[in-house]
Amino acid sequence: MKKSMLFVLALVFVLACALPAAAKDYKVGVAIYQFDDNFMTLYRNELQDYMKSLETDDEKYDITIVDGKNDMAEQSNQIDNFITQGMDVIILNLVQTSSADAIIDKIVANEIPLILINREPLGDDGDESYAGILDNANVCYVGADARQSGTYQGEIVAELENHGDINGDGKISYIMIEGDPENIDAQYRTEFSVKALVDAGFEVEELDDQVGNWAQAKGQEIAANDLSKFGDAIEVIFCNNDAMALGAAAAIQAAGRKVGEDIYLLGVDALAECVEMVENGEMTGTVLNDHIGQSHQAVDAAIAALHGEELQNYYWVDYVKVTK
Ligand code: BGC
Repeated sequence: MKKSMLFVLALVFVLACALPAAAKDYKVGVAIYQFDDNFMTLYRNELQDYMKSLETDDEKYDITIVDGKNDMAEQSNQIDNFITQGMDVIILNLVQTSSADAIIDKIVANEIPLILINREPLGDDGDESYAGILDNANVCYVGADARQSGTYQGEIVAELENHGDINGDGKISYIMIEGDPENIDAQYRTEFSVKALVDAGFEVEELDDQVGNWAQAKGQEIAANDLSKFGDAIEVIFCNNDAMALGAAAAIQAAGRKVGEDIYLLGVDALAECVEMVENGEMTGTVLNDHIGQSHQAVDAAIAALHGEELQNYYWVDYVKVTK
């Protein structure tokens, strides 16, 4: 080899060593069931901010977040696109947990790590966790155990001086405003709030149980109808989330009723406006659904998967009772 050639090769080698290695750029696909959801808005913003804050000179995260518009077909297309775009990891907030198998299988077949969030997938029988898929080291669920939030709602009522029995007839008469019944959070909160009262030895009377689909306007409509139908007989309004409790609070005010005096109102999430309402007595209580803890855990799991680490089946984040 000629001397000049050797010199050029040596120069290339020295330059290559001196140049910083290019940062690894990971593609992260985040599919949210619906942007128009108070809680999931807080969640997705925190998720994005937190993941960006973890970027280093060596590692960057190119995050794409899409809105499933509460439409399973739309979300299924979005996942197809994520696969075509070669996402390195997918964070998925399912629209429909009961028909999750197909969408999950697709992602798994393409060997893309999958972090399921907020809506725990159900098994074929509709009431067991879709545990089989979570056994896969590339798949996990990050969430909070909704049984705990329901129990806390019931306990808040049980701990009141009159235990929610305002008219002293020996029973707690309530209406239940449910989230999307597809969602295990709605099922468990509905069941366990009442169970906590019964387990504590109280008699309960359900005046009404209706689906408000997590939405404020629907919560208001249901509460308004029930307040005019059942009047003073309603002692407690349980809402599966705070958005619907905000609606119910407006209906309570319009009906001339007063929380803490002639009615009690419970939510879940601890949205900032609801925590303020608990503080000034406009709501009896709520339960912190820790969107910060959950979104951080989801991101940590996603990054672990990007680094080739095995995922646990579940990562649970605790709820916290919020009262005055
Ligand atoms: C939250 C609701 C939210 C739902 C979306 C629940 O955990 O409490 O506010 O609408 O998740 O799936």
